[in-house]
Amino acid sequence: MGALGSIVGQHTPHRCAVQLGGLGQSPQVPIGACPSHVHCQICLRLCSGQPVAEIAADTDILPRQGLTLATPPNSVPFQNGTLLGGVAVKAVVVRSSEELAVVDAPEPAPGSGHVLVEVDAIGVGYVDVMARRGEYPYFPGAGSVPGLEVVGCVTAVGPDVPEGLVGQRVLALPAFGGYAEKVVAEADRVFPAPPGTDAGDVVAVGVNAMVAELALHRARVASGERVLVRGASGGIGVLATQIAHARGAEVIVITSSAARGERLRALGAAQVADRTDSALPGGAYDVVVDTVAGPDLGRHLELLRPNGRYVLCGAAGGVPGPESFEPLLRDFHRSPTLFAFSLNSVAPGDLRRSWTRIGTLLEEGRLSAVVDQRFPLAEADTALRRVESGKPFGKVVLFPR
Ligand SMILES: NC(=O)c1ccc[n+]([C@@H]2O[C@H](COP(=O)([O-])OP(=O)(O)OC[C@H]3O[C@@H](n4cnc5c(N)ncnc54)[C@H](OP(=O)(O)O)[C@@H]3O)[C@@H](O)[C@H]2O)c1
Repeated sequence: MGALGSIVGQHTPHRCAVQLGGLGQSPQVPIGACPSHVHCQICLRLCSGQPVAEIAADTDILPRQGLTLATPPNSVPFQNGTLLGGVAVKAVVVRSSEELAVVDAPEPAPGSGHVLVEVDAIGVGYVDVMARRGEYPYFPGAGSVPGLEVVGCVTAVGPDVPEGLVGQRVLALPAFGGYAEKVVAEADRVFPAPPGTDAGDVVAVGVNAMVAELALHRARVASGERVLVRGASGGIGVLATQIAHARGAEVIVITSSAARGERLRALGAAQVADRTDSALPGGAYDVVVDTVAGPDLGRHLELLRPNGRYVLCGAAGGVPGPESFEPLLRDFHRSPTLFAFSLNSVAPGDLRRSWTRIGTLLEEGRLSAVVDQRFPLAEADTALRRVESGKPFGKVVLFPR
């Protein structure tokens, strides 16, 4: 596909810097309900300020289509790579599918319904790997800042934000932009950090605990049921193991080494199966929590007991083909249920209720953070590569200071 144009000038909230030969300004579409935030249909960057300064003035822009973004993060203009106003903050941008770079980006300004968070810790997830590779459809692409989960302090708010948030330490879920010293997030996607907790620990629990908790909640896991966790030593898996155990389930985990299995037993696993051995874990299960998917999904679907529930939360092992779902029809008389579950579909009120239940588990000592490694923000590339390697046990965390 050929290039459509290049970035030529000022990128402001209302004028995208992409110029298409004789066409002049590129078409823009409003994002959500806020008319001041527009989205360039050609480069798919938010015209309200993703750090386009880092894109060389003659960078080619390739057409991308079909994406929508939920949150406009920033609003300070650049001109030919120079920040025109505001304060610079360190941020990490994706330069290409292989490269990240630390840059000076504009301090984002919170618009209506948004808060500004000074970041203390940043969660690194597999989704960031996909964003860098260009495989995550909601990520705007090269020149943008990844990062969907941070912990920090609210330092400013835009109009129409409930009172009392300034000064609060929160877990915030921005729509990207989190690999930075400061980020803007929607006010209804910030959640109080438990008092006295370490920011790295809170972000390690954060989003992953919501995925695990809501997956188990939606599957109505009851005490005494048998729950199988695939991808158990991953960021989500270590929390799903603990939360299923806390709900009174008998937890069986699938993992990749005996050493990992031992660590998972300490988190509540009653039995451990090794995925490097081609045999499947024995027995049948009321619930399977799967963050791996991949070509073996169908074999795991067959492990459900009658009326069993399979919650598909991720695809660390690749996207399964249609044949993987055949057991659903073949085992029709056993009434299997398959949920696909993404946090993106969850209403803010449900996220808040889940976070409250997670807070209770933390307070009761039935859930704890599992941090694999901590890196400074400047080493974001190393951190992402560690996640990409599949080696972490638990969560990789970045620190901007
Ligand atoms: N549903 C949502 O809302 C949501 C939110 C965030 C992330 N996700 C997705 O959930 C998935 C897992 O996220 P995560 O942060 O837990 O990832 P992670 O920390 O990278 O963990 C994934 C785990 O899966 C296992 N694994 C990796 N590659 C595998 C393979 N080829 N075959 C079998 N097992 C493999 C490994 O565990 P073992 O060594 O123990 O086997 C690994 O630790 C990703 O696809 C991510 O995009 C979903």
